[in-house]
Amino acid sequence: MPTSSAEAAAAGPAARRTPLLVLEGLTAGYGGDPIVSDVSLAVGEGEVVAVIGANGAGKSTLLKAVTGRLAPMRGRVILAGRDTTHRSGHQLARMGIGYVPQTRDVFDTLTVTENLEMGGFLLPKADRRRRVTAVLAIFPQLQSMPERRALRLSGGERKMVALARALMLEPRVLILDEPTANLSPDLSRSVLREQVRRLADAGTAILLVEQKAFEALEIADWAHVLVAGRSVTEGPGPVLASRPDIREVFLGREAV
Ligand SMILES: Nc1ncnc2c1ncn2[C@@H]1O[C@H](COP(=O)(O)OP(=O)(O)O)[C@@H](O)[C@H]1O
Ligand SMILES: [Mg+2]
Repeated sequence: MPTSSAEAAAAGPAARRTPLLVLEGLTAGYGGDPIVSDVSLAVGEGEVVAVIGANGAGKSTLLKAVTGRLAPMRGRVILAGRDTTHRSGHQLARMGIGYVPQTRDVFDTLTVTENLEMGGFLLPKADRRRRVTAVLAIFPQLQSMPERRALRLSGGERKMVALARALMLEPRVLILDEPTANLSPDLSRSVLREQVRRLADAGTAILLVEQKAFEALEIADWAHVLVAGRSVTEGPGPVLASRPDIREVFLGREAV
């Protein structure tokens, strides 16, 4: 796949927002072996930046390194101009980074409201209650089932709870690991268009990783293609989605 820095430069950076979250040459892995190498990207307020890549490309590893779950081997993470490379997950949550992991994103035995309260663990009790009300207002479907346990929710409703939980602390940056995993194609599109895109339009900076490449590119202001842990090409989402080489890699695989 050819790199597209010239194409990307022509198509976009002038329109990009001031970066809020910046990764500089981030390298991370397990037991000293890098899985993700030298990844640099930037996410501005109100932007969706997608990282697409096949299963095993290193997407979740990248996000673990950004959110303090895995110590980076090299490179830096910068939030609003401050180096946050070696901060813990809790410190990052306090600083405004919300994270929805790929799995174990809600507590099955807790109700919708209890899950949201867990997401607001850093807040004083009264604020937590107010925030639960505010967050439920963003997800009308959840508003009618505050006492339902997560294990009785549909896949789409669970994802809403996971997103809602991450919103409890009013993050400036939201980091989403495959929010459409296990959802039908229709539901995937609806989560991306009606929830992820809408949150960005309200001002949140969103770093989204997805295996569902085309659905993610559709809503992405900017996107990177991750192959074997490296960002091999980048550009505006719709521009990448129309490139034959990218269609071949992703549609070719899906068609097998
Ligand atoms: N905890 C871990 N320990 C060792 N290797 C891991 C661990 N988690 C993931 N890997 C390996 O890292 C590679 C990338 O995994 P991952 O980041 O989960 O990819 P993706 O999210 O793109 O599917 C895979 O080869 C996987 O086996
Ligand atoms: Mg993953």
